Amino acid sequence: MAQVLLQAVKVKKVFGRGDNAVTAIKNINLSIRRGSMIALKGRSGSGKTTLLNLLAALDQPTEGQVFYDGKIISDLSEKQRSTWRRTNLGLVFQAFGLIPLMSAYENVEFGLRIAGSNPALHKERAEQALEWVGMKGRMKHRPPELSGGEQQRIAIARAIAHRPALLLADEPTAELDSRMGLQVIKVFRDLVENLGMTIVMTTHDPGIMEIVDHVIALEDGEIAVEPTV
Ligand SMILES: Nc1ncnc2c1ncn2[C@@H]1O[C@H](COP(=O)(O)OP(=O)(O)O)[C@@H](O)[C@H]1O
Ligand SMILES: [Mg+2]
Repeated sequence: MAQVLLQAVKVKKVFGRGDNAVTAIKNINLSIRRGSMIALKGRSGSGKTTLLNLLAALDQPTEGQVFYDGKIISDLSEKQRSTWRRTNLGLVFQAFGLIPLMSAYENVEFGLRIAGSNPALHKERAEQALEWVGMKGRMKHRPPELSGGEQQRIAIARAIAHRPALLLADEPTAELDSRMGLQVIKVFRDLVENLGMTIVMTTHDPGIMEIVDHVIALEDGEIAVEPTV
């Protein structure tokens, strides 16, 4: 197993063409070690979501490559990338995206069905994932009966129930107050410490910077190298 799980080499993403072309990110080189927790920070429009979507193989770079576990993922076909995501990746978003009429357990189980995982394992995996995020005791509750922080923990359980090695989260605490945001980040920290998961999240939240292993700052689409004083 390679120590570096995720790597971007000379990545550039341009949206649109001609006069309408927008260079969202460029000159991106990064290596993320297995079992680390990384924050991508930068002001709105600095390219955080664009970079995260490229690392998730949801989108493809205009130039450069993205590697996962030493293998190129950015050049794969749409279908191959989708298979790669179902196997290796969990995704968490700012808006939790839970189905209000389903219980917490049903939401997680539904995620497993979409991921196409073995139905015989669904119950065990859904319950285990809910336990990892500290929500097993609330699994019969529906999202509207839970706080924002609890709903985000259910969304995390759904994202990790198929046991991906990589979790990517786009502003996972943006909708939460700072106390609930911290709870969610502690869940992430536990997943890294106890399960060896690798987590990359985008954030504005200064409190989070102290809990992660590394902060990567984006400025106008490029990695800002902080000057050593
Ligand atoms: N689909 C798109 N089409 C055109 N421009 C886009 C698209 N997505 C993002 N951009 C542009 O790329 C830049 C970076 O956006 P984004 O990655 O969303 O930044 P952040 O997540 O840091 O706020 C912005 O200038 C944005 O307007
Ligand atoms: Mg964004």
